[in-house]
Order: sequence, then C-alpha cells, then structure tokens
Amino acid sequence: MNQQHTPFLDSLVRAKNAHEYSFHMPGHKFIAELNPQITDFMGETAFEADLNEISPGVDYLHASKGSLLEAQRLAAEAVGADRSYFLINGSTVGNQASMLAAVHDGQTVIVPRAAHRSVYAGLILSGANPIYVPPVYHPQVEFPLAVPLEIVRDLLAANPDARAIQITSPNYYGYLSDVGGMANLAHEHNIPLLVDEAHGAHLPFHPDLPPSGVQVGADLVVQSSHKTVGALTQAALLHLNGSRIVAAHLEQILSMMQSSSPSVLLTASLDAARQQMATQGYELLTTTIQLAAYARQSIRKISGLWCYGDELVGETGIFAHDPTKLVIRVVDSSMNGHVFAEHLAQEYNLYGEFVDPKHIICSITIADNEQRIDYLLNALRAVAAKGKLTATSSVNQHLKAPHVPEMVINPRQANFAVSKRIPLAQAVGEICAEQIMPYPPGIPLLLPGERIDSDMLDYLHYIKAQGIKIVGPEDTSLEFVRVIDKSA
Ligand SMILES: Cc1ncc(COP(=O)(O)O)c(C=O)c1O
Repeated sequence: MNQQHTPFLDSLVRAKNAHEYSFHMPGHKFIAELNPQITDFMGETAFEADLNEISPGVDYLHASKGSLLEAQRLAAEAVGADRSYFLINGSTVGNQASMLAAVHDGQTVIVPRAAHRSVYAGLILSGANPIYVPPVYHPQVEFPLAVPLEIVRDLLAANPDARAIQITSPNYYGYLSDVGGMANLAHEHNIPLLVDEAHGAHLPFHPDLPPSGVQVGADLVVQSSHKTVGALTQAALLHLNGSRIVAAHLEQILSMMQSSSPSVLLTASLDAARQQMATQGYELLTTTIQLAAYARQSIRKISGLWCYGDELVGETGIFAHDPTKLVIRVVDSSMNGHVFAEHLAQEYNLYGEFVDPKHIICSITIADNEQRIDYLLNALRAVAAKGKLTATSSVNQHLKAPHVPEMVINPRQANFAVSKRIPLAQAVGEICAEQIMPYPPGIPLLLPGERIDSDMLDYLHYIKAQGIKIVGPEDTSLEFVRVIDKSA
C-alpha cells in the first residue's frame, strides 16, 4: 500500500468542498457563521468539515467500505498488524473492548493491579474474575515500573483456567515489561495477550525504540495516538493479530461501545498521524530520541536532579526503556515532586505528564525541538537552584500498599450490589463498594468487591494522617466508606 496516501482525510477535503445542502444532522449544518463565538475560537474548519456518513463521499466507521477501510488497512500495514481499528474514545474504549472480546462472565483473566481504570471498567462490563498481578515497586523509584514475567507465569500456573492475560506496557514512566515473553507464555496456554500500549503509539516507527506489542506477538494492542504521536485528543488505535480474538466479534463490540456518530475530525487525524509516522517517523523520531538524550544528559548534570534511563533495565521486571520519557528525580533538590512541579507551573508555565512524590515525568515527542528542550532545562536548573526545604516538601516514605485484598465478589457483581455508608473505623470485615486509590501512585488499594481487613484499615488511617490525596471514594476524607449492604 502507499503510506503517503491519506484516503480518509482526502475524502473529507473533497466532501467539505462539495457544499451540499444539508437537511440532516449535525444541527449546525456545516455553517461556520452560525455561532461566531465558538467559530472564532475553533476556526471554520471545525464546523465545515464536521461531516458524517450522510454527506456524499464520507465513509462510516461502523460499516467502513471505502476510504476508512483503506485508512485502517494502512494503519495496520504501518505497524505490522493483521487489522487495525480507529477508536474515537481513546485507549479507554480500546481496553474495554479488548476485555469484552477476550473474556466473559465468570471467566478468569490475569491483570496487573497497576492498570488504568478503563481495564477495571472492562472487568465490570465483561463480568470476568480478575487475578491481580501485585505491584512490584522499584526500590529507588518507588513505583511499579513493569510487570515481571515470572510472577505472571506463576499466576498462570496457579490459575490454569485463565482465559487471557492483560498487561500495561509501557507505563507513564516509559518502562516496558517483557511483552514478547508474555505473548509466548499466553500462547503456550492458547490464550490471548492484551496489551495496553496507550503510551507507546510511537514505538513501531523507530528501530532504536523498544518494540511495540504488535511486533512481538501480542494479540490485541491499544495505542493512544493522541498521547505520543500527532492525532487529536481521544483518537486511538486498536491492533489485532492472529485468530485467538475473533475479528468479527471484536468489530461488533467496537460498534456497540463507540458512538454511532464518530467524529470524522478525530478519525481524519488518525489517518494523517499514521501517514506522518509511516513516511517521516524515522527522521522525526531520530530527532526526538536525540533531544531526549541531550535532555537526559543535561538533567543529570544539574545539582539536585537526576534523570533515569536504561540503567534500570533488568530490575523489577523491566525489559526495556523508552528513551523519550524523562523520569526526573527532583527530590534531592529538597523539594518533593509536587512542590517542584508547582514552581515549574507558576514560574515557567511548564507542565509535565505525571508527578509523583519524588519525580516529574516529561514526555518528549516529535513536536519538540531544541529550543523547547532548552526551555525545559533552564526551568529545571532555576527551580532546582532554589533548593528550598518547605514544610510541604517532605516526602512520604511508606507509600506501599499492604497487599492486594481478598476479592469476595467480582467487579461486575460489586458494581450492581446495594451499598451503604459506614464510618471507616467500623469497616473491618466489610466488603468495599468503592474504589480507594491514593494518588499518586494511582494504584487502587481497594476495589469494589474486596474485603477490608485490619491491615488495610491501619493503612487507610496511615495515608489519611499523611494527607495523601485519595481518589475514588464518595468521601475522599475517608471518615466514611461505602460497603456492600449484605442485608439488601
Ligand atoms: C496506561 C493507560 N491506559 C489507558 C489510558 C486511557 O487512554 P485514553 O486517554 O486514550 O482513553 C491511559 C490514559 O491516561 C493510560 O495512562
């Protein structure tokens, strides 16, 4: 196929210029002047090209036959997948659809505890029973950077009825698990491997980057093209390889889960982003990798800062490192991650991708250049030089959760169970009905359906006392907790 082509984008350009007389949706009828306030902000094209399948020459995502079918085939060819699907609700819908395609009610799936909430949503939707891979914290970074293959192997041996393995790789920190090893392991048991590669849409396009899951045998791979390549926010891809996941079933699920009015602006941006990466990705990423290396080396010379790289490969399950992610350790500057990030925001209008108590994670992409990297470096130098130890800058030393709790009822059953609110102090022995997650690291301590035991209660008191931000529960101050009402 000709990767220079952008069949869907081209069809939109033609359809936009056809100036049809529309007596159909959308209500704005492509008339940019309808609401000048929003058009002044978004530009005329946002309305004039906001077409749909009723417009002549515009293909339909849920029954693609023409330009969208070709665009998705080009995307598949570009990464080496058997089939690729355009997603208009991000990797979120990709993870949900992957889970639904692989497992159903009562079946067992192996899932890392440190997964995005869309994976958990997939468990609720499918009714599957998760066996969680407990998070293995990297001793220095104090975050689970990868899913160790040996643990997954042991879990699979202990749960031979597992119908799928799901993992996240790379994570926010740019560290990858042994996805190829997981694929082999899954396939030895004739089950599929589902990979949340939301942070890895750029991986297939440069040999100096770790391989994408698509290239090492994963059955389904989800990529947020909006995160690391040039597509619009919400635009993502789902790649399918092999026949363990049935394409027709997956397509049915996608058409059930995605809007029946998919935005052509999002899908056209996927077409354009694929064309750019397939035809110029090598050159663009060569520059990106060089810029990131320059940034990493320079940060390592700044007093009080460090930037991790591939020296962590081999530790705590880490198989590879994506050099375009800068994991900047700031805590030795006498500021914790949050205080440091606040300085960067207030004084330099600069925001990283993720902040934890000790680190700021910055993502370098094909949109960066030397001037932007120098701006980052100067800002980091200036903030590090302040070196103020403030009352708020202490670092919590014991962020590790006690253990993964006992699952009494599965996520789907818990989602539909009747619940009640009780004081946290009375919660030992109860089944939690909500998600309780300290953020960061953003790994759930408790998920709906799990038993609250006395160790967990002590830990919840501890994180409350530390003032760590809690996300998920109705009462984020954790005075009260919602539990399953067993009398209902
Ligand atoms: C690991 C991971 N998976 C999935 C998602 C969801 O991606 P999207 O925002 O494209 O829906 C995210 C979003 O941050 C993520 O970090």
